[in-house]
Amino acid sequence: MSNLADTLAGKFIVIDGPDGAGKTTQAKLLAEFLTNSGLDVQRIRDPGGTAIGDEIRTILLDNRHHRMNVQCELMLYMASRAQLAQEIIAPALAAGKCVLGDRYISSTIAYQGAGGADVEAITQAARIAVGTVMPDLTVILDIDSEIGLARAAREGQADRIESKQIEYHRKVRELFLCQAQSDPHHFAVIPADGSIDQIQLQLRDTLQTWNWT
Ligand code: TMP
Repeated sequence: MSNLADTLAGKFIVIDGPDGAGKTTQAKLLAEFLTNSGLDVQRIRDPGGTAIGDEIRTILLDNRHHRMNVQCELMLYMASRAQLAQEIIAPALAAGKCVLGDRYISSTIAYQGAGGADVEAITQAARIAVGTVMPDLTVILDIDSEIGLARAAREGQADRIESKQIEYHRKVRELFLCQAQSDPHHFAVIPADGSIDQIQLQLRDTLQTWNWT
């Protein structure tokens, strides 16, 4: 195992950020790189990632549910996450795997926070849902809201959250950056307007140089 693989064994890393930032592509490339470095990587998707969570994800993203209120959204995201934390993340970390997540609590603070939910209430709900199963590092891939939404739109039909107004998405971005600013020991920000390769190199560099203690 390489030094990086040694360092990242048993660590929980989340890649998060506004829609269209390229999280999923970057998480896939990073997982391949880390696996090739000799690390046992467990990828997760939030919302979803378990049989129960995948059903909750379908309800959350269904365009017919435009009347869903923000408290209902918040509880459903946390319900999906509670199952994911207990069924997949905690056992993987205990087995010394590196858990690589696509979104987590930082998304609820950004999206449902932008929708009007109180950030302190979200944090309390998260504590109930996942307890201490919290990321060691959350990397925010930061993208201008117009560019991100245009990219996401090119990838297919917009889901219920992506279909919201641009002002909402600007607020989402601001809340991601706010979290990073107020907790620099657990958050890193990488600009996501470069090429896929550039962003991937920056991501690897961040993991290599991060102070994990
Ligand atoms: P994804 O397609 O990037 O997996 O995310 C699905 C959508 O759900 C995306 O628009 C962001 C939104 N979302 C929230 O609103 N709150 C959350 O807690 C999470 C995890 C995602």
